[in-house]
Amino acid sequence: MQALSKNFFLFLSNNSALDRMAKKWGPKFGANQIVGGETFEEAVPLIQQLNNQGLQLTVDHLGEFVTSEAEAVKRTQECIDAIKTIHSHQLNSQVSLKLTSLGLDIRKDLVWDNMEKIMEEAARLDVTVTIDMEDSTRTQQTLDIYKGLKNKYPNLGTVIQSYLYRSTDDLEDLSPYDPYLRLVKGAYKEPGTVAFTEKAQVDENLKKLIKQNLLNGHYTAVASHDDAIIDFTKLFARNNNIPKDQFEFQMLYGMRNQTQLDLIQEGYKVRVYLPYGTDWYGYFMRRLAERPANVAFAIKGIFKK
Ligand code: FDA
Repeated sequence: MQALSKNFFLFLSNNSALDRMAKKWGPKFGANQIVGGETFEEAVPLIQQLNNQGLQLTVDHLGEFVTSEAEAVKRTQECIDAIKTIHSHQLNSQVSLKLTSLGLDIRKDLVWDNMEKIMEEAARLDVTVTIDMEDSTRTQQTLDIYKGLKNKYPNLGTVIQSYLYRSTDDLEDLSPYDPYLRLVKGAYKEPGTVAFTEKAQVDENLKKLIKQNLLNGHYTAVASHDDAIIDFTKLFARNNNIPKDQFEFQMLYGMRNQTQLDLIQEGYKVRVYLPYGTDWYGYFMRRLAERPANVAFAIKGIFKK
């Protein structure tokens, strides 16, 4: 049943006709509980409120299916504007972005150009940027761009997914760059040729990657809502004298709110990933795919104004 519903929502997440309709509706069906608003300006008071609770943020301008150069350039400018707003409002927030929204599927030099422009502004205003990881057909290109920019722009991070077989090697390959890495299980539908298909294997591999990255001495963002992963990280850090300022926990906005605050009380750093924008549809469907329990609030949302 769980696999069925996961596949169903992942299938829906790729439906561009529904995606187009969703843009016209605005965040609906409970999506407003996990999305910060349609514009960054709209999300600012919420970010301030979360900052006041001791939470740090990373904001993501939702956007998939970008196929025109003009749209990719527009996305780039919006990202730069968000960096400027973070600086001018003194928000404790980073920026997360997806390379496909900046033209990865259109032209290689376009996405490089756009990333350079964003990173120039991010470096000037001292805002950290993390490149989200998309599906496995784009992993190598994403890591190549990361490695190409990291030495020039130290405030750049990216993501490693534990469901991919290649991730242990990728972690070693990135080690000389002193990477800022977010470690996740992985959110896309991947074939068994490239990824573990059993949850237990994905979980075990995430623990292995957390150990590997912490022991390599790198700052590590453990992005998971899973108590088993969170408890493992705390225990491993304690037993290996890894200081609390060498890692942080990351969770999605609207998920496990009390756990986020409890971790802060215990002295851990917690960063909330807050998506905003009109393109909420694909993001919302992937969250439903991950956790069928989320379906309950989505269905309730259908009947709410
Ligand atoms: P998982 O879904 O495996 O659940 C394990 C257990 O955790 C559940 O059984 C339940 O007990 C508990 N749990 C999970 N969610 C809960 C909830 N909402 N409430 C209560 N309990 C819950 N992926 C990707 O491919 N590329 C990326 O760039 C990113 N970026 C990213 C950033 C951040 C900040 C996060 C948190 C996640 C991502 N992801 C991602 C998504 C990630 O790959 C993964 O799909 C989800 O985090 C789900 O996996 P979890 O480890 O959270 O728990």
